[in-house]
Amino acid sequence: MQISIELDSQSNQSLQNQIFEAIRQQILSGVLKSGVLMLSTRALSEQLDVSRNTVILAYDRLIDEGYLYSQRTIGTFVNPNLPDHSLMLDQEYADTTGTKQQEHSSVNRHPVAFNGRVQALFNPYRDQLDIDFWVGRPDPESFPIKTWQRLILKNLAKAGSNMTEYHDPAGIVELRQAIADHLHAARGIVCRAEQIIITNGIQEGVNLVARLLIKPGTIAVTESPCYQGAAYVLESYGAKLHPVPVDKDGLDVRQLPQKNIGLAYVTPSHQYPFGATLPLERRLCLLEWAQQTGAYIIEDDYDSDFRHKSSPLTAVAGQDQHGCVIYMGTFSKSIGAALRIGYLVLPQELVSPAVTLTTLMNNGHSWLDQAVLSDFISSGSYLKHLRRIRRTYLTRRDCLVAALQQHFGDDVILSGLEGGMHLVWHLDESLPTSQEIQTIAQKVGVGVYAPSAGAVHDYSDSQCCERALLLGYSSTNENQINEGIARLADALKTREQPLNYSKDRFITQ
Ligand SMILES: Cc1ncc(COP(=O)(O)O)c(C=O)c1O
Repeated sequence: MQISIELDSQSNQSLQNQIFEAIRQQILSGVLKSGVLMLSTRALSEQLDVSRNTVILAYDRLIDEGYLYSQRTIGTFVNPNLPDHSLMLDQEYADTTGTKQQEHSSVNRHPVAFNGRVQALFNPYRDQLDIDFWVGRPDPESFPIKTWQRLILKNLAKAGSNMTEYHDPAGIVELRQAIADHLHAARGIVCRAEQIIITNGIQEGVNLVARLLIKPGTIAVTESPCYQGAAYVLESYGAKLHPVPVDKDGLDVRQLPQKNIGLAYVTPSHQYPFGATLPLERRLCLLEWAQQTGAYIIEDDYDSDFRHKSSPLTAVAGQDQHGCVIYMGTFSKSIGAALRIGYLVLPQELVSPAVTLTTLMNNGHSWLDQAVLSDFISSGSYLKHLRRIRRTYLTRRDCLVAALQQHFGDDVILSGLEGGMHLVWHLDESLPTSQEIQTIAQKVGVGVYAPSAGAVHDYSDSQCCERALLLGYSSTNENQINEGIARLADALKTREQPLNYSKDRFITQ
């Protein structure tokens, strides 16, 4: 009996693997029927023009995995005991040569229990843009590549068993201590290294906290609008989201609900997306509210490293006298999102359950990345790096503000200027909606973003989001900023169908 197998000498799979896979697929698809006597290894090696040893190794693996069995002196057979349901008897599939990967079976599978939606963190238009004001990305040029290289080599050289052992799932103690020291100086938070848990970014931190605190129906307050990544996680654990509006000063604490609240997820340093810094009185009200209602405050401090005007306000966690605040930080904005390192600072009573949970979830994170980051912080390089990029981002922010004023008038309404890596342009009635401007800008190779494209969850699809445009400035240089805003202004002037659009607004000053 011939077996139809086509080998690809250019493939990066070995010949042995290709033979194994082709036979396995033909068994699963029913092309090779159960109980059938296989070609001898010699015959198949001659047919395929490969060494006999290659075929023997493929057959051995098929025998080990239970697809074939061999009877001494008689030959090798397709295992007749393969359960029927493991075979894909779809006729179309059976007609193929066995290289097709997978077809749907008609079996009614157990339903997927998870129900969730995903935040818009990737920019699908990126490759089509010349100039991109995407939100919240560090300047690629700013990544401290040489120092990182040196620290990787240094840590590898002394790694010993560090690369082969499991480590403390909460994170290596050196990194947790370095973060605790940094937070004390930079954010006014006094905590012990034991209270810090290293996470795969804030995203994993929110998951961890949600799993600790949320049962289906638990009420979770969020700002409205807020960051999709947090709202969607809370929702996916069954939380009932309770939006509280934001105004020009951030969360309107007077509108906080008073009963049966599990937690409030907030961004006090730089409200996402509008960028307000929550004033001291509101911070104190928020803390008092948490103390009275028994709710936890989740403080997402994602981009507080960049404070352009004054020195940063102490974090809400730094003002917390009662252990109400779960603080979340990340290196995604200050170093790079691909690092995937963030952390939680937990009130004492949550430490032990959180460590158990992180052990169940992931057994901890990469030792090497943690060791390198720990050295980077404790050697003072992190502070130097922050000082450098703060200057760059401040210059870029000023450049963007000046370009917007030059092309759209001094009275452009902007928010979120005090810190962070993006600003929000509140469009007046003479301009199209943010969604329309996003589309117009894309046509001239410029990326500016309506809130929903920038991972903003807007409960009410409100007017304020419809008329708010997000512009990140951290990963565009000054030439690009000037060129991008000039192109946007031109595109808006010359677009074919003006929508309530007054040309006078755009006379260049
Ligand atoms: C408000 C806010 N929080 C958290 C994150 C995610 O941070 P991480 O990369 O640490 O998961 C983002 C990402 O852009 C964000 O905008």
